Amino acid sequence: MNSLQESFILHNGIKIPCVGFGTYLSAAGGETERAVAEALKVGYRHIDTAAFYKNESDVGNAVKKSGIAREEIFVTTKCWNADRGYENAKAACEKSLLTLGLSYIDLYLIHWPANEKQFGERAEEINAETWRAFEELCAEGKIRAAGVSNFLPHHLEMLKKTAKFMPAVDQIEARPGFWQEETLDYCRAHSILVEAWSPLGRGASLALPAIGTLAEKYGKSPAQIILRRMLQRGILPLPKSVTPARIAENADLFDFTLSDADCAAIDALRAPAGKNPDEIDF
Ligand code: A2P
Repeated sequence: MNSLQESFILHNGIKIPCVGFGTYLSAAGGETERAVAEALKVGYRHIDTAAFYKNESDVGNAVKKSGIAREEIFVTTKCWNADRGYENAKAACEKSLLTLGLSYIDLYLIHWPANEKQFGERAEEINAETWRAFEELCAEGKIRAAGVSNFLPHHLEMLKKTAKFMPAVDQIEARPGFWQEETLDYCRAHSILVEAWSPLGRGASLALPAIGTLAEKYGKSPAQIILRRMLQRGILPLPKSVTPARIAENADLFDFTLSDADCAAIDALRAPAGKNPDEIDF
């Protein structure tokens, strides 16, 4: 990847700009609209939101007011946990389209897998039914690509039993010290693009001493070191910021290349694990 305008190609042939702009914990009612407007101004063409974030209308407003052609901006949103199942997922997509004020969504994700802890043996069927709705939404042209978030290999294997096609994307928690290697391997083997949510560990990963050392070595910031590593690994990062200088910094990733040895050093870092999708109860 050599510029913010470059794309990964999803398994259905759709292009997805290589860095997405994250909006989780970005407030509705202006803050998110300003942040997204700033991101579009400095060249991001990929915005990641979710019904759960309650800021879809801010995202839609920023996209519409940007003056950039709709087809040049890639918008992702997600189906929340309360909306699982065939009918609910279809209705949730309609609601997101209305709130965004858009006629189609580029990528629609199941936000979290239904797990056995909450749903026992029904979990598999619930995920399969939600996915059936997603496949239809694709066929209807309401979404250009369908994917999942927080799915581990065993959730994807279950989906595979009834899916007409596999998710194009799995958006997972990934950052130095918590890469979720098994999920990366599974996705690579199934041509599923991995996106990283909270790639900076909500800011905490920036303080890892080894990242600071590399930042000095390359003359870049800690955030740029982490995001660049993800791009070189074929992982699409979704950094969030509401601060204009950081929004620009997180997109300025294309004038340096990390050596293989430095990549290996980043990959060897250890940090506390993140959320386990089999244990969530929301
Ligand atoms: P803010 O939004 O106030 O600018 P993640 O994407 O891993 O969830 O991290 C987001 C958090 O990291 C936010 O608190 C954001 O702060 C902060 N952040 C984002 N980019 C940078 C950066 N380049 N340098 C320092 N902090 C950053």
